[in-house]
Amino acid sequence: MKLLHVVGARPNFPKLAPVYRAGRAAGHDQVIVHTGQHYDESMSASFFRELEIPAPDVNLDVGSHSHAVQTARIMEGMEPVLLEHAPDWVLVYGDVNSTVAAALVAVKLGIRVAHVEAGLRSHDRAMPEEINRIITDRIVDLLLTHSREADVTLLGEGVPAERIVFVGNVMIDSLLHALEHAPVSAVEQGTVVVTLHRPSNVDDSDRLAQLATALREIAEERTVIFPVHPRTRQRLAAEGVDLGRVRLLEPIPYREMLAYVASAHAVVTDSGGLQEETTALGVPCFTARDNTERPVTITEGTNQLVLDLSTLPALVRAAARPATVRRPEGWDGQAGGRVIAALEHALVELAIA
Ligand code: UD1
Repeated sequence: MKLLHVVGARPNFPKLAPVYRAGRAAGHDQVIVHTGQHYDESMSASFFRELEIPAPDVNLDVGSHSHAVQTARIMEGMEPVLLEHAPDWVLVYGDVNSTVAAALVAVKLGIRVAHVEAGLRSHDRAMPEEINRIITDRIVDLLLTHSREADVTLLGEGVPAERIVFVGNVMIDSLLHALEHAPVSAVEQGTVVVTLHRPSNVDDSDRLAQLATALREIAEERTVIFPVHPRTRQRLAAEGVDLGRVRLLEPIPYREMLAYVASAHAVVTDSGGLQEETTALGVPCFTARDNTERPVTITEGTNQLVLDLSTLPALVRAAARPATVRRPEGWDGQAGGRVIAALEHALVELAIA
């Protein structure tokens, strides 16, 4: 079986790694295409190294542009690559522009597409990722889900049951694998780890000011570590935001980030991945959003949405880890193998049909 994986942005890389490893173990022919949506060393190459993924076979080098231009350039770049490699499956991951662009090109060429992390919905169409999720899930052949609630969502949208396979959470495969190498005892313990990059938080001046007020207050009491995403760095500079004693850092490599998160007092974030990682690690997580496409992290995990940002300092102060860590079904480190098994199985089924 020939598999062609398409990734582009930082959150895609920990999803690719366990699937790639399982594909290699099963002896499949694999090609990695990096669209170049993220291109800085700290946003991309360091992740490939630490996740032990080989360098991409193809890099489209699309870079940063408006959504339309970025999506169009990925589509243009993907077409000849797919024609040349003619894979049995194209795998797309998550909800970034690379996901929807590659899926659209592949289905129109008649190449089977599988979506890893299908069925997530925030029901907030102002998020570019939500549009990417909806479109991708409408057009792909195989929808691989990370939670039972995603299955329910897809069935509710009319996706035929035979196209949906619950495989569990590949992000947690990467987390469990990398924790063995994470410098947990070397980092400062009990910090508050902050990441913010969503347009809804950082592009809105009032919202950014409210977040800054809350973070300044938290940093009066505890060490606050804030690895700053490039888009957030630009916005903080443009607005001249004062973050007081908050420790601002460049984006942190994967293993070091896991070390900080695993030993944190709490996490304040708007990231999707961190909502899941904190649940798997039993670390309190406060999500500065009005909604989440990952409600299982609230119902079964340690995540909490913070609708009123003025409550954030008190919430963080009172945060406590659960007595026992419960991980949702399929968040067990074996999801990559189940993805490969699902592809092998579906290929046989489709060949018969
Ligand atoms: C993208 C994804 C989002 C994901 C996030 C994780 C989409 C629609 N959005 O959003 O789902 O959660 O990545 O990081 O696909 N930049 C750099 N260096 C880089 C990459 C970007 O400096 O390596 C700068 C760009 O110049 C741009 C800004 O960061 O100004 C935004 O980057 P971009 O990747 O386009 O969008 P994100 O907001 O990061």
